[in-house]
Amino acid sequence: MASERQARQQIVRFGKMLHDCGYVAATDGNLSARLDKRHILATPTAMSKGALRPSDMVIVDLDGHLVAGRHHVSSEIAMHLLIYKLRPDINGIVHAHPPTATGFAAAGIALDQPLVCEVVIGLGSIPLAKYGTPGTPELCETLKPLISKYDAILMSNHGVVTYGDTLEHAHMKMETVEHFAQIALITHLLGRQQPLKDEALRKLLVARSKYEGNHSAAPLPLADCHGSHNGGQSRASRKFASTVSDKGKRPPADSLKIRS
Ligand code: 13P
Repeated sequence: MASERQARQQIVRFGKMLHDCGYVAATDGNLSARLDKRHILATPTAMSKGALRPSDMVIVDLDGHLVAGRHHVSSEIAMHLLIYKLRPDINGIVHAHPPTATGFAAAGIALDQPLVCEVVIGLGSIPLAKYGTPGTPELCETLKPLISKYDAILMSNHGVVTYGDTLEHAHMKMETVEHFAQIALITHLLGRQQPLKDEALRKLLVARSKYEGNHSAAPLPLADCHGSHNGGQSRASRKFASTVSDKGKRPPADSLKIRS
């Protein structure tokens, strides 16, 4: 866990990176870091995440009570607190609106096709949560079933949330989601997708357990995405999967329910 001083500096740094990459506009997005068992450092509400100072951050306890800070805390703090409560392994969270991934979220398409090996290693798959009004308990309810199984979630008609053992890893996962969304979009434009087959996915599972870089506790792609629309892959995602090339026909989902 980072010290409070380090966490303040990291939020400034990753907030600026989100803004510089166009992953947030205006006052979009929020970031947080776990300081200790009871306390969370989070971004203030309604400020550009590209121009924060370390002193702008707010400290709340796990129940959301203000502990320190001169601004109001992010309007999405309940989502952050839910993730910290459900995932004791998580110490950093990033929420942003990267354009391509958010485009998928607005189109109702999960990023749950195993198209790129590094994404399978880094994230498993990226499900689509149902829509919930930002800043309300409704949003938390849509995310709740997915948080323990995934490290990155598309939020319908809203954006993306990623989380990791450090804030840096949470931020890297956000980069991976947006990069993968761009690649997936290209496959849709090309009119063909060639998903990795079962055997390749099993080998990736072994590779992931040995990989020293950023990797996920999430299950492999196509494993139970029950939080996505329609009780599995979103309808649009299924339609894409069935209309693109059937090279590498998808193996039965059951055969992929593997956990590391
Ligand atoms: P806050 O500035 O309150 O964190 O809200 C930004 C946002 O993106 C809400 O979804």
